[in-house]
Order: sequence, then structure tokens, then C-alpha cells
Amino acid sequence: MDRVVTSDDRKHEIMLDLLVTILALMAAYYVGSIFLPMLTGGAGYSPTPRRKAREALEMVGLRRDDVLYDLGCGTGVVLAEASRYCDNVKGIEIEPLRWLVAKMRARDAEVILGDLFRQDISDADVIFLFQYEVRVNERIARKIKEEARSGTRVVSYLHPIEGLQPYVRRGDIFIYTT
Ligand SMILES: C[S@@+](CC[C@H](N)C(=O)[O-])C[C@H]1O[C@@H](n2cnc3c(N)ncnc32)[C@H](O)[C@@H]1O
Repeated sequence: MDRVVTSDDRKHEIMLDLLVTILALMAAYYVGSIFLPMLTGGAGYSPTPRRKAREALEMVGLRRDDVLYDLGCGTGVVLAEASRYCDNVKGIEIEPLRWLVAKMRARDAEVILGDLFRQDISDADVIFLFQYEVRVNERIARKIKEEARSGTRVVSYLHPIEGLQPYVRRGDIFIYTT
């Protein structure tokens, strides 16, 4: 004999549909958040370890009155660390959720939602980068050479930047000057 469908059964079905829809949307957002930056020509997401950020900022000799940019600032690990030594810290992030987390994490920094390739960097003293594809760094190197002032220090975590010379290397941290 067929079981009678009760209103509780319907409620359970609706809840299940809702849960599946929410999970699908979250998965779509997660996948999108990885590929959106790549579509703009940037890297996907992985954070610089805090210890490495501190080491890189020490190596680049970050001063209180410097203007520092993290181009593609992710969730703001470098911004938060840099804000301890510097009063003018700016981050650009294209992915809204990471931008929001960076804004909450690095309250003393200016965190901009946008495309790093469209950002004016003419006032930069220090530029931090963790963009992990060679072609991305080549494009950023062109932008830096065209737009940054002479004497701007550039620090790249994990990946060297072809086209900027000379560099000082310690392990996976690379330092350049324009
Ligand atoms: C490898 S993560 C590094 C994050 C952060 N700089 C750090 O070191 O912790 C690269 C970040 O760059 C962002 N990104 C990629 N392309 C971008 C673009 N065109 N404009 C702004 N941000 C971009 C990604 O969304 C990602 O959060």
C-alpha cells in the first residue's frame, strides 16, 4: 500500500532541496573564485605564510613612511604584517570574499576591490607580489617598469620576476629595484 505523503515529508524534501542548492552555489562560488582571478590574468589563491611575509618585509627594509602595495592581496596576511611597520599599506584584490576577509583582518590598511592591472602604483615605494605564473609576473614586470618610480623596491614571494634586475635572493624571496 502507498504511504501517505505528510506535510512533514514535504518540509523535509524542501529542506533537502534547499541544502543541495546552497551546497551547489557554494561549490560554484569556490570554483569561480579560483578561476576568476586567472581570467583577468592573475594567479589563483594561496596565502604567504606569516613568517615568510615578515622575512620578506625585513629583507626589503620596510620603513614607516613607505607606501606599500600588495598586488593581489588575498585575505590580507601580508597587509596585516606590513601594517605593523608601515603607515601606508594598500592591497588590491579581485575576489570579493577574500577582499572582505582582508578588509577585516588588516583594518589599518587600505584594501581595494579591483584589478591589480588597473591600479595606479605610481606612489609605491615597495611592491609585494605573490603571483605564481611566469606570464603573470612578466605582465606585472612591464606594468612596474612603465608606472613605478625609479627606486621602487619589489619583493616577490616564491617566484622570480623575469625582466626586473638586479635581484637579491634568499631562499624563496626575491628582491628587485626599479
Ligand atoms: C597567490 S595569492 C597571494 C595572496 C597574498 N598576496 C598573500 O601573499 O598572501 C594571489 C592573489 O591574487 C589575486 N589576484 C589574481 N589576479 C588578480 C587581479 N587581476 N587583480 C587583483 N587580484 C588578483 C587572487 O585572487 C589571489 O587572492
